[in-house]
Amino acid sequence: MAATFTIAHFTDPHLPLLAEETRLLAAKPSKRLSGILSWQLKRRHIHLPEILAAAVADIHAHQPQHIVLTGDVVNISLPEEISRAAAWLAALGTPGHVSLVPGNHDAYMAGAFDAAQQQWAAYMQGDGQTPDQHFPYCRIRGEVAFIGVSTAVPTPIFSATGHVGHEQLSALGDLLNTLGKAGLMRIVMIHHPPGAAGASTRKGLTDRAALLEVFARHGAELVLHGHTHKGVFDRIAGRRGPIPVLAPSSASALDPHGENARWHFLEISRTPADGWQTQVTVRGFSPDSGQFCTEGRFSLLP
Ligand SMILES: [Fe+2]
Repeated sequence: MAATFTIAHFTDPHLPLLAEETRLLAAKPSKRLSGILSWQLKRRHIHLPEILAAAVADIHAHQPQHIVLTGDVVNISLPEEISRAAAWLAALGTPGHVSLVPGNHDAYMAGAFDAAQQQWAAYMQGDGQTPDQHFPYCRIRGEVAFIGVSTAVPTPIFSATGHVGHEQLSALGDLLNTLGKAGLMRIVMIHHPPGAAGASTRKGLTDRAALLEVFARHGAELVLHGHTHKGVFDRIAGRRGPIPVLAPSSASALDPHGENARWHFLEISRTPADGWQTQVTVRGFSPDSGQFCTEGRFSLLP
């Protein structure tokens, strides 16, 4: 592969609900009603399609070799939202060029993720896998291994927790072990944060401790996540030292009480000592210029 491998990471686009969808569903009491209220009262004023379009244009202008999207593509997992998102994904990039993991809003109700599982399958499929094989998936691009973990499970009303599950944890451990022995740069993509930023009972991973054990035992070079809607620069324990954990804010947000939209441009290269170095450029939306610009740059050393 080239000396440097480039990746764009963005998250939580929350593509907009349509007005008629919110009107039709408002009459039906369900968890979706709380999602609609949240959209109508708050989220539709924060997650703006024009900001997301500017973020995607800025990502495309950087010509990353791979794009990572860590979930919450939609809001309440309506079939219509999932179909619109499939068209939006097609415009974002080809399935081989974009790796997606789902968020809790993509599996909002029991059974609601089935449509996404089918329509977004090509973006969540490992090398050599068939569409009916699911998480964790693994794609190898050059010397970088992208490992997709799903934490998206339906939850009760007012809960936004995630769950990895025993089967996935076991398969993740095996994958990390094999890919580590092969000397690849292992990037784990997951919606809910594995670090302290995700520790809340209402929004965190219910089996976070077990996931941390897998990382501590097998290691990884980098974890990319979403869910927080604010920038996270964290570390968790790995096999040979701390593993950097990164998340940008929501890529569609214009939020006077929170963080505006950001995405991360990652440049990965081998170090002379056979480790990995990641240069992170934070691209953020500036309301003054109406454009994305570089807000900061830093290096993650092995
Ligand atoms: Fe979200």
